[in-house]
Amino acid sequence: MKPPLPSALIDGFGRHIVYLRVSVTDRCDLRCNYCIPKDFKGFEEPANWLSHDEMARLISLFARLGVRKVRLTGGEPLTRRGLAELAGRITNIPGIQDLSLSTNGTMLARHAAALKAAGVGRLNVSLDSLDAARFRQITGRDCLRDVLAGLEEAGRVGFSPIKLNCVVHADTPEAEMVRLLGYTLAHGFILRLIETMPMGGAAQNFQPANLSLLGEKIAARFGLVPALDTGDGGPARYWSAGGVPALGVITPMSRHFCASCNRVRLTADGTLYLCLGHEHQVPLGSLMRQGADDDTLTQHILAGIAAKPERHEFNSAPRRIVRLMSQTGG
Ligand code: 5AD
Ligand code: SF4
Repeated sequence: MKPPLPSALIDGFGRHIVYLRVSVTDRCDLRCNYCIPKDFKGFEEPANWLSHDEMARLISLFARLGVRKVRLTGGEPLTRRGLAELAGRITNIPGIQDLSLSTNGTMLARHAAALKAAGVGRLNVSLDSLDAARFRQITGRDCLRDVLAGLEEAGRVGFSPIKLNCVVHADTPEAEMVRLLGYTLAHGFILRLIETMPMGGAAQNFQPANLSLLGEKIAARFGLVPALDTGDGGPARYWSAGGVPALGVITPMSRHFCASCNRVRLTADGTLYLCLGHEHQVPLGSLMRQGADDDTLTQHILAGIAAKPERHEFNSAPRRIVRLMSQTGG
């Protein structure tokens, strides 16, 4: 098969899809109260998890079609054995220019060096609280210390930038965000506050914060100034300290950014989701296991992209999505 033109992945609204988020597992060692219900039993059967070979094959097809950036997500990606090895394989796929990882950080201290060596460039670490008791209340585990150790090690082995992701509900204390921002500035990280999206029953119990308003207020408190477009093509809006981005807000609920969406998502079993807020999907994993060749898979990818929905409807249809964020990949 000849490589198609770089811009082959253009959806029905003219958006260029250059970014693939790959969930390597829907499992997690935490139970964040807005994400996975405590007694959740519906995890994917390990037999359906794509192997490294299968993931590399699918990612290669996306790369040939124009995907340039890959992010490994979950669930918690580090619960899957051999993640650094997989990262090394993805780094070597022709066309992939940027590989990043989203993690909850609990096992990061152990793996940071290997991930860095494997070519992971950028790191997002979920951190909703710097208060040990509140961290445990949110995540179900008493392991804030492990996450902080992971962050320290990630800095030590040279990850830069390191972004902290904090999911914010309407009732999240402002003092929590202020404390997180103080810590972020002291360590040279970037803090991103994220409005809770109604992904699954647990998340639907929470009201999202309005970060379009709150971000401004917290930035002003620290004397941060609005950053010029950071040019990373991502959905966050940033404020800077001394010319360096320090605080960002991601506002899917109060001010959605669907018009500039550049991404699609692949789950652990190889299902391609076109939008977080819709059921549109392509079962690439099962097609592959039924013996589909590269051309056939490519046709299915192109058909999926052509049908990518224009935008989520989380505000008007807040109970539509029953699958968890950990299943689709955060
Ligand atoms: N809304 C917004 N972000 C979420 N995350 C998980 N659930 C939600 C939600 N409902 C984020 C968290 C998590 C990552 C997988 O996605 O930062 O760690
Ligand atoms: Fe795990 Fe992230 Fe979900 Fe928390 S939010 S349970 S860390 S996947």
